[in-house]
Parts: sequence; structure tokens; C-alpha cells
Amino acid sequence: MSQHLLLPLVILAPSPTQEEPEDLDCGRSEPSARIMGGSDAQAGTWPWQVSLSQKGNHICGGSLIAPSWVLSAAHCFVKNGTLDPAAEWSVLLGVHSQDWPLDDAQVRAVAAILVPDNYSRVELGADLALLRLASPARLGPAVRPVCLPRSSHRFAPGTACWATGWGDVQEADPLPLPWVLQEVELRLLGEAACQCLYSRPGPFNLTFQLLPGMLCAGYREGRRDTCQGDSGGPLVCEEGSRWFQAGITSFGFGCGRRNRPGVFTAVASYEAWIREQVMGSEPGPAFPTQSRQPQSGPREAPDENCTIALPECGKATRPGAWPWEAQVMVPGSRPCHGALVSESWVLAPASCFLDSDRSPRYLDNWRVLLPSRPRAEQVARLVPHENASWDDASDLALLQLRVPVNLSVAPRPVCLPQPEHYFLPGSRCRLGRWGRGGEQGPGAERGGVAEGPTPPQRGFAPSSFSEPAPRPSTLLEAELLGGWWCHCLYGRQGASVPPPRDPPHALCPAYQEEEEEAGGCWNDSSWSLLCREEGTWFLAGIRNLSSGCLRPRAFFPLQTHGPWISHVTRGAYLEDQLAWDWGPEGEETKIQSCPPATEHGACGLRPEPAPMGVLWPWLAEVHVAGDQVCTGILVAPGWVLAATHCVLRRGSTTVPYIEVYLGRAGASPLPQGHPVSRLVISIRLPRHLGLQPPLALLELSSRVKPSPSALPICLHPGGIPLGASCWVLGWKDPQDRVPVAAAVSILTPRLCHCLYQGILPPGTLCVLYAEGQEDRCEVTSAPPLLCQTEGGSWVLVGLAVRGSRELFAAIGPEEAWISQTVEEAHFLPPSGSSYWPPEGSDLCPPDTARASGTPRAAVFLLLLTSLIQG
Ligand code: ARG
Repeated sequence: MSQHLLLPLVILAPSPTQEEPEDLDCGRSEPSARIMGGSDAQAGTWPWQVSLSQKGNHICGGSLIAPSWVLSAAHCFVKNGTLDPAAEWSVLLGVHSQDWPLDDAQVRAVAAILVPDNYSRVELGADLALLRLASPARLGPAVRPVCLPRSSHRFAPGTACWATGWGDVQEADPLPLPWVLQEVELRLLGEAACQCLYSRPGPFNLTFQLLPGMLCAGYREGRRDTCQGDSGGPLVCEEGSRWFQAGITSFGFGCGRRNRPGVFTAVASYEAWIREQVMGSEPGPAFPTQSRQPQSGPREAPDENCTIALPECGKATRPGAWPWEAQVMVPGSRPCHGALVSESWVLAPASCFLDSDRSPRYLDNWRVLLPSRPRAEQVARLVPHENASWDDASDLALLQLRVPVNLSVAPRPVCLPQPEHYFLPGSRCRLGRWGRGGEQGPGAERGGVAEGPTPPQRGFAPSSFSEPAPRPSTLLEAELLGGWWCHCLYGRQGASVPPPRDPPHALCPAYQEEEEEAGGCWNDSSWSLLCREEGTWFLAGIRNLSSGCLRPRAFFPLQTHGPWISHVTRGAYLEDQLAWDWGPEGEETKIQSCPPATEHGACGLRPEPAPMGVLWPWLAEVHVAGDQVCTGILVAPGWVLAATHCVLRRGSTTVPYIEVYLGRAGASPLPQGHPVSRLVISIRLPRHLGLQPPLALLELSSRVKPSPSALPICLHPGGIPLGASCWVLGWKDPQDRVPVAAAVSILTPRLCHCLYQGILPPGTLCVLYAEGQEDRCEVTSAPPLLCQTEGGSWVLVGLAVRGSRELFAAIGPEEAWISQTVEEAHFLPPSGSSYWPPEGSDLCPPDTARASGTPRAAVFLLLLTSLIQG
């Protein structure tokens, strides 16, 4: 708003001009003063602070600017473009604690709410409102007006000002009883400095354009800020011995987040509007002249105009040497591993302490060992999660250190994810020790630390524990799987997959299997999952129970506990997501649910539509005696089905040397693929009289763990599931072995029989390729015939008969043999009726056997005749 426009107004108005003495004393408070990161104010420090209630509930703050006028924020009163009726609101003046009884408080009804015409939404500015009280406030020590700045008034960047309010003390964390007014010192940020911060994508990947009439205050590193419920309240700066209101709390992105200072309505910009509204009221608000013109800001050097704050947590000099690794020593039990989350708090599994006597006098003997600390820390308090004893996902406790540690290179806290964090598929993760487990892994040297009671004594010098050498176990690198794989592999069948915007139920890292197999079993391990974004480590998940002799494959996400952790600690480092490149998964809008699983777990999973580079996880390369390569299909964690003619030389009785590879797609290594290889230790054939049976089961030297690189296919009782779509899955050529799928339809047994009259062994399936797909895959490797059920599961139906493109040995007739040989074959529940429509007569249409030309031509002829027959 320009000075010229303002001028006539000022002259017309009977109230203030430059020369006129201010008749209202303003901005004086008793000498002595959520707000996030603030503290209780002293009663009487901020006598202009008011609480605005709608139907009896505190909603916003405000400031008294004249006996009958309160300044606040427009967004408190405007909902969906409509201004609230003034009668719904009341103003509470002279309160300190909002707990009853409100001793000297004055309550006023609101006669009118005035909002600038051009206000529409907070982000578009003009977020201010004036409330005219039904009767003037009685001024006294606890109720006094604040001074307002003239439009020419300049508040220098870097000035320390104060914001006050009864708002949340952290995001979604209300001010606790007795609701004492909070105050926080905030520094004014210059426009360029603030715009620089808001131009970088922050929470929710958002950027923001500051507008004239807005003002920023706070800190690049965050942690101190106003929050929900503080809106409308004042940001005041002291000049001379008066307090001037520089800003009105308007909005922010979250509260106290790094590089996201609070945005305030710049009161000076609205001098003209305010004067216009209050014109004629006696006494009106006071706009004293600024006592001194600020030169340049006390703190803000020009080159500071575009500095951003970097995370203060999650920095590790080298992976595995986690500077947040904490060992809690409780007399009489093995040490328990946890993580330092702030200068005073350690997060660890509650199960470590459930059996301990937690009365404070016992805590006296507890100690916490932190990296690079000369002495063990003492414990002041243990706060278990309320669900800890019955919900594994909430097996958490917070331990408060008696004396906060100085955060330096070590110890240093780990970053915790905000609830909306979405760890991108493919994120790089590693494991950290967690709880009492994690000591039995391969390569873990069993020192005296892990075993037996270690009662720490006073003066306990833990030099030998201070910097644990990284072990191979903790160095294992893992990649995060996408939500679909994680939930469908390890979750419940039919469960819907949380979209990227919702908190996940599980986080699944994919490991290179070889490393895991080397040298032993990870029984009884419990681990934390650390994931890295832009060089910063987040504690992403925890797992206390492992499933048998496996490294945990699915972790409980920690992000759902962020609010509890920050509520208890008031200072844990919750960090915003740093990488936002969601890729195609981020655009996924339709709710996905998981295909059916069997009693043995998930089978036949493949995402739909499959992104580039996704494997057929059951497709195996069977390398026979080093030369021939055949197709194999994983039917259970330790079994692969292949064509007998591929793995056994005719007439030979010796079992050849066979290697099986899964998770490979030819020569090109896949970015997300973790190849798995096994030796074949036996070959099983069904009993067939005379003929060599077409199918062979290969027993693997050890089981494979289900993953997107190695997952058994499903089987369907009776063979072909109703309503399925079917494919021949093979390699384009046996050299490069890039998988290709050709769409086919399976002919009815009668058509098949008629077409190949007399020459087919029983149980053979005939297929008809979709136009132009006949020679997509080569046949010497015996490609499988697969169908995808309506539920989305992939089912094995047959394996190509030697040398044929159209004929397949059906799985159906061998079901009993397969389920007897392979305990864990994944048979889906039967789906009732048959794949084919009911057929008419048993007779073959005339001339089919003599039909000349390609099989395709013959099939057409056949189909045609059967159609005509009805
Ligand atoms: N709009 C909020 C309210 O209605 C105020 C939010 C201030 N947020 C911040 N991060 N400074 O109370």
C-alpha cells in the first residue's frame, strides 16, 4: 500500500497524525516474559495477549490494540469464504493460565469482525482481522494495548522478537494443563533469506512464494516456532521501552521444521486498513513514531541471504560406526542396544526392560554407553510406550539421561522420520543393532560385553565399548522394496497396499542373498533398519522377532511413532523427507490389494502393470552340466520344476551337475534384482509306465527366501483357473535369456485331441498364439505355460513338450505327485468350474485331421466348425 494513498485518509481522520500526542499509552509491560520450543511466560509480561474462543473453545490468539479493538488473523474467522457470525466468538483478556478458575480475566462479547476485502486464503496474504468488542476492556496491569507500527516502520532482519500463544507445543501436540501462556524468542528473517528457504522444496515437496505484507520469523534450523492455535497472536519487538507488534501469527509448514520459519502478517503494511476500520473510536490504537531507524540488521550479513540449514542428525562418518548407537546396561541382564534420538533421550525396545523393576531407585544403577563418551551416562527416567507389552510394532521405550550429552561428531542423534515420510523404493538401507539380539550373526565376535550380567559400577569406564568396530552384519547393505512387494510378500492376503501418501504397515529391505547365507544363521536377531537419504540416516524401522533362521525381511515402521517420541522428548530430531522423487509409484491412484496367498505364504506375485525391469520371480535358469540352459519354474522355496528332456539325457542314469539361477534376466543385471543361485541335489520323476515322464522336480541345495527375485509360482488344482489369461513365458534366444511372454489361448481338450489325433500323450495341452506372437520365444529351453488368475496370481499350467511350440505337458495330472514330493507347493483354493465352456459332441468335426497347412489354419477351421455346430 503506497504512502500517497494513505495520506488523504490520515488528514481526514480526526485521530493520529505525526504531531498529535498519543493519547493511549501502549506497548508497556511489567518489567520482568505454543508455541514450539518456548517456555511458560510470566504473568503480566504480555498484557495485550488475548484468547479468542468460539463457542467456548480457544481457537486463536489476538492482541489488544485499543480498549475496544483486538487484532487477529482473518483465517480464524473465515471458513470456506464465509465470515463467522461475531456472536459465536468471545474474547478473554488478562489471562495467564487458561485453567479454571480464571482469576482476573475479563470476558468480552464481539460486536463485529472485520476482514480485508481481498482476504481469501492464508497463502495469499492479507491474513488479518479486527474485532470490535461489545464493551471496552478495563485497562490495568494485566490488560494493556500493544503499539502498532506505522507503514514506514522498519523492523530490521535479525531482530529478536517474541511470539506468544496457547497453541500446540509441537505438531499435533496440544499445550498441556494448566495451559500457561507460552512465549518464544524468534528472530526476524529478511525477505530474501526467507524466500530462499521457501524456494527449496520442503515438507510435502512444497515450495512457497512470499508475498508483500508477509514477514518471516524463526530459525533456519527450526525447533522454535509458533504452531496451531497461536494464529492471530502477536509477534512483538521491543523498541525503546515500548513493544511494537511486527506480525500476526498466520501460517507455516508444519511447526518448527528445518528451513520452514513461521510466516506472519506484517502489521506495518496494514496501517491504512487498520486506521480506516477503527476511525472515530476513542481512544483508537496508538501508532507511535519509531524511535530510531534501524541501520542494517544486527545479525544478517548480506551473504547470509541464502543459507539453508542442514540436518543436525543422522550423520555417520562411515556406515556401521553409528554415532547414535547406545547400549543400555541394566544390572542382571545382557546389554540392550538402542539409539540416541536427542541430547537427553535414548530409544530402545521396551521388551529389554519389561522384567526390570523400574522404580526410580533401581534406575540409579542403570547406565547408558554412548560412542566416544569417557563415562557411562546415568538414567533419570524410563517411559515405555503404552502398547509396548502387547504390540510388537510398539515395542519401544524412551530413556532420559540424567545429564544431556553434548552433541558433536559422536555421540550424535539419528534422524527420525515424520509420520508422512515415504521411503522411496530402492532407498539404501543398513542394519543397526537393536535390543538384546544382533550378537549371534555370522562374523559377530562374542566379546565379554554381550554375555552375562554386567553390573555397572560407579565410575564405570567403558573404554572398550565406546566405539564398537563395525561388524560385517551391520554393514550389510539393503535396498527398500516398493510398497506393493512389501505388503504382498509379507503381509496379509487381500490386504490393500497403502499408497505412498499413507503410512506403511511395514518396510521391507531386499538383501543380496549370498551375503546372508555365508556362514550361518541369524536366529534370534533383532535389528533396526537405517535408511539413508541424501547422506542423512533415518531410523526407519525396528524388528524384534525374526522369523526363524532369517534376517528380518519386514520391519515395523518407526514413522508412526514420531508423534509419541516428540511428545515425550520434546526435542527428538524429526526430519523431513529429503528425497521426493516418487517415480511412477507416486502417481499410483487406484487402491491396490494383494493377490491371494496360500497357507505357505505368497506365490505367483508380479505387479500389475509391471514396471520395466521387473523380473518373473519364479523363472529360473537351469544350467545343466555347464552347457545346456533350460527354463525352470520355482514351485516351492527348495524346488524347481523343469522339463525332463532338458535335465536328463535319454538313457543316462547319472544325475548331471545342475545349477539353478533365480533373479536374473539374461546378461543384463537388473538394478533391483538380487540374484540367487543353488545347486541341484536330486532329481525326482513321477512314476510313468513306459514313456519318460515329461516333468522333473529338482531339489535345491537350500531353500530360497521369498523376494521379488525369487518367489514360487502358484499351482491351481485341476490345472487351468477359470477366467485366466494365459502366456508362454520364454527367452527370445537361449544366449541372452531376456524373458518374453507370448499371449496364448488354450484349446479345449477335444479340439486339441482332434487336431493332433492319435499322436498326443494323455494330459497334453494345445495352445493357440495370439496373432503375430507365435515365434516370440524359442522352444529348445522348454518354456512354461502360465496363466494369471482373475485375482492376479500367476499359476503354472504346463511345460513345453520337447521341440514343440504349441504342445505343453499339463501340470494338472501330476498334482498328486507334486504335492507329495514338495511339501510347500502353493496350491490355490479350487475355483469351481472349468476353464473351457461346455463342449457339444465327442466327435471330431470331419476333415480336421486332414486339415492341411499351419496348425493355426487348422485350428481356425476347427473353431469354425464347432461354432457352426452350436
Ligand atoms: N495457522 C495456524 C493456526 O491457525 C498457525 C500456524 C503457525 N505455524 C507455524 N509453523 N508458524 O493456529
